[in-house]
Amino acid sequence: MTTDWNAWHRAYDDPQSGLSERLRIIQGLIGEWLDRTAPRDVRVVSACAGDGRDLLGVLRDRGDSERVTATLLEYDEANVARARSAAAEFPAISVRQVDAGHLTAYEGAVPADLILMAGIFGNVSDDDIRTTIEALPGMCNPDALVIWTRHREAPDLTPTIRSWFAANGFTEESFHGPANHVIGVGAHRYTGPARPLPAPTTLFTFTH
Ligand SMILES: C[S@@+](CC[C@H](N)C(=O)[O-])C[C@H]1O[C@@H](n2cnc3c(N)ncnc32)[C@H](O)[C@@H]1O
Repeated sequence: MTTDWNAWHRAYDDPQSGLSERLRIIQGLIGEWLDRTAPRDVRVVSACAGDGRDLLGVLRDRGDSERVTATLLEYDEANVARARSAAAEFPAISVRQVDAGHLTAYEGAVPADLILMAGIFGNVSDDDIRTTIEALPGMCNPDALVIWTRHREAPDLTPTIRSWFAANGFTEESFHGPANHVIGVGAHRYTGPARPLPAPTTLFTFTH
C-alpha cells in the first residue's frame, strides 16, 4: 500500500467534504438498520474499517449498543490503534489487524447481520469488486444488510455494481448519489437462499 491511510481520515475534519457527507449517509443507514432490527442481538463486520468511526459513532449515541457484537478488520497499524481506542467502551466490539482482502480474516465474524464495505470498491479492480460481491451471500445471515461505497467518477461503475448485487440475490434498499459530490453509497439486503461460506480465497487487493 502506498497511500497513507491514517492521514486519509483528515478529510473528515471538513464537514463540507464528500467524505463527511458519505459518513453522514452511512451512519444514517446504520441507525435505521439498528432501529429496524431492535431489540434482537445483531452481529456486524466492517471490512477495511479505518478508525471505525461510522459504526462506533452511531453506537456512542444509542442506548442499545450492547445488542451489537462487531468485528472491525483493518490493516494499517495506526488506524487499528485508533479504532481499538475508540472501541474500548464497547466490550463486544473487537478490532483485528488483518488483511481483509482474504476470506480467512472473517473467520468467526461471519455470517453477520450487517456488513460494512466502505472505502473498498474505489480502491480495488473491477474483477475484485465482482469477486467480493459473489462471496458476500455466504457471509450474510438471512436478511443481512450490506452497506458499500464507490465514487461515481466517469466511467461510473455504480450501475454495474448494483446489477452485480442483484444477480447475487440482493435486493436494493437504497442508493445515494448526491449531486454535489462524486460519492455513491449503496445498501443491499440479502434476500437469496442461505449459502455456505465460500472456500478461503482472495476477495480483493488494494491497488494503491
Ligand atoms: C478508504 S479507507 C476507508 C476507511 C473506513 N472504512 C471509512 O470509510 O472511513 C480504506 C481503509 O482500508 C484499509 N486497508 C487497505 N487495505 C486493506 C486490507 N487489505 N485489509 C484491511 N484493511 C485495509 C486502509 O488502511 C484504510 O483504513
